[in-house]
Amino acid sequence: MRTGPLEEGERVTLTDTKGRRKSIILQPGAVWHTTNGAVQHDDLLGGPEGVTVRSVGGMEYLAFRPIMHEFMVSMPREAAVVYPKDAAQILMWADIFPGARVLEAGVGSGALTIALLRAIGPGGRLSSYERRQGFADVAHRNVTTFIGEEHPGWQLTVGDLVDVIDDGPLDRAILDMLAPWECIDAVGERLVPGGILCCYVATTTQLGRVADTLRAHGGFTEPHATETTIRDWHAEGLAIRPGHGTSSHTGFLLTSRRLAPGQVAPMRKRRPAAGAYGADYVGPRPRNVPANLGGATSSRDEEPDQAPAPEHEGED
Ligand SMILES: C[S@@+](CC[C@H](N)C(=O)[O-])C[C@H]1O[C@@H](n2cnc3c(N)ncnc32)[C@H](O)[C@@H]1O
Repeated sequence: MRTGPLEEGERVTLTDTKGRRKSIILQPGAVWHTTNGAVQHDDLLGGPEGVTVRSVGGMEYLAFRPIMHEFMVSMPREAAVVYPKDAAQILMWADIFPGARVLEAGVGSGALTIALLRAIGPGGRLSSYERRQGFADVAHRNVTTFIGEEHPGWQLTVGDLVDVIDDGPLDRAILDMLAPWECIDAVGERLVPGGILCCYVATTTQLGRVADTLRAHGGFTEPHATETTIRDWHAEGLAIRPGHGTSSHTGFLLTSRRLAPGQVAPMRKRRPAAGAYGADYVGPRPRNVPANLGGATSSRDEEPDQAPAPEHEGED
């Protein structure tokens, strides 16, 4: 991202009075033709962003450099992208820091890649894996368009993560794919003690499978699952009300920390939720859950599955 006067070759987004947007690359002498007449690029070059330019036909356009979340949702895409609200949560809960060694799979269209690269900075390293060449090509174009050059710490590898993974120690790993549970052993081998695994999944069935696989693995802390909803608000005069742009379900985040080699997570004292590993359950089982656990007929037969106390309760 740049600040300061607008320069040749920079992308600028122009928004008209109806909220319609158009992105242009600034070139000296160039003209953007609209249904309301031409807009001269020279009217913007050398000046600040946040200005209004007028077409020959009198339409006004507000000009800004596009910022990261606008680029992420408007760039060309082949696969579903991680939306900005979830990318923001991933950066926080996976604790992505400048200089971190991060793995990401799959890359899809590269939306999350852009957010991760910005967070690790030029001194970090991001290994991105994508099994489809066409998707990787789109992601490469999107990422380099946004950054404006090749990121020095970015490596994009085409192939199935488990087959081609080639990383040394990792501080953080983000899995955004259909079957993240298939990659937990490979990623777990490389995550440093205390490292964080973050899985982004769209459905409850994926969420359950990846959580149970982590418990069965034994080398991770009890996974923590969240969903983020954002509500827009309209605030104008006395009309203060929820807006219409509230986003619906996108996905779940599940995070867990890697234990040191040879350590196994202490088993939870509380019993599994009633029916959690009942007769119909066929997935992975934590070591404290016997294969024949399945007698519970009703949640009332069991002790309640208490929610754990908030982590920082009473810590002052
Ligand atoms: C939902 S998209 C990822 C979107 C991406 N995070 C973004 O923000 O644009 C899931 C991607 O994972 C890829 N994928 C699925 N399983 C994979 C695996 N085992 N190894 C590498 N890539 C995989 C798919 O080809 C697909 O492109």
